[in-house]
Amino acid sequence: MTEPDQLARDAAARAALERIEPDSAIGLGSGRAVWRVIELLAERHGGAPPVRAACASDVTRTRADEAGITALELDGRTRLAVAIDGADEVDPQLGLIKGGGAALLREKIVVSAARRFVVVAETKKKVERLGETRGLPVEVVRFGWEDTRRRLLELGITDAPLRRDGDAPVVTDEGHLLLDCELPPEGDLAALAAAIKATVGVVEHGLFLGMASEALLGTPEGGVEVLRV
Ligand code: 5RP
Repeated sequence: MTEPDQLARDAAARAALERIEPDSAIGLGSGRAVWRVIELLAERHGGAPPVRAACASDVTRTRADEAGITALELDGRTRLAVAIDGADEVDPQLGLIKGGGAALLREKIVVSAARRFVVVAETKKKVERLGETRGLPVEVVRFGWEDTRRRLLELGITDAPLRRDGDAPVVTDEGHLLLDCELPPEGDLAALAAAIKATVGVVEHGLFLGMASEALLGTPEGGVEVLRV
């Protein structure tokens, strides 16, 4: 991790802290920017921050526990005031690619439980079109995953390698596999997102379109660019 990236994430995380009211129910996604928010929350309150949080990954849950944040289950009744989460790409309409950390499914569930979704990331994640710098993570069930991949390739996705960690496939917290799908450079992404979601064997995809309320993008100098829709 380079120093400018750290500075940028730190600046975005500090700005996110201003969006978290004491005694509120919040959602926490996954990734380095979110984990920095957790550290800053603990610092702000000298341990045991007075917030309850639904956590989108086992790692985030562990870190939140260690920081003294009370865990919150999504029980069908609780609405979260705000969800804070990172992103791998951010477009000018606040469309996102997420899932670089393999947590996209639970992240989408947590974000969907919140009234507002605030993105914490770095300005270097800005793109003109989603898919410019990386593949779209798509979470698929293990059974018949190669057939699922064939169906995805029939949608115009140009490549869809299985995500691996060394020799072993990456398995998500929910026990699924990930295909990093290369998106076509042109065409309607919302229509493609709907087609991916409707593909048999697909559980969820990492396109978060029309979900974010605000993006806090840290600069390498420690400033923050705020994007809203
Ligand atoms: C995990 C995610 C992360 O939010 C995304 O990968 C950004 O992580 P980081 O803040 O470490 O760059 O979507 O599934």
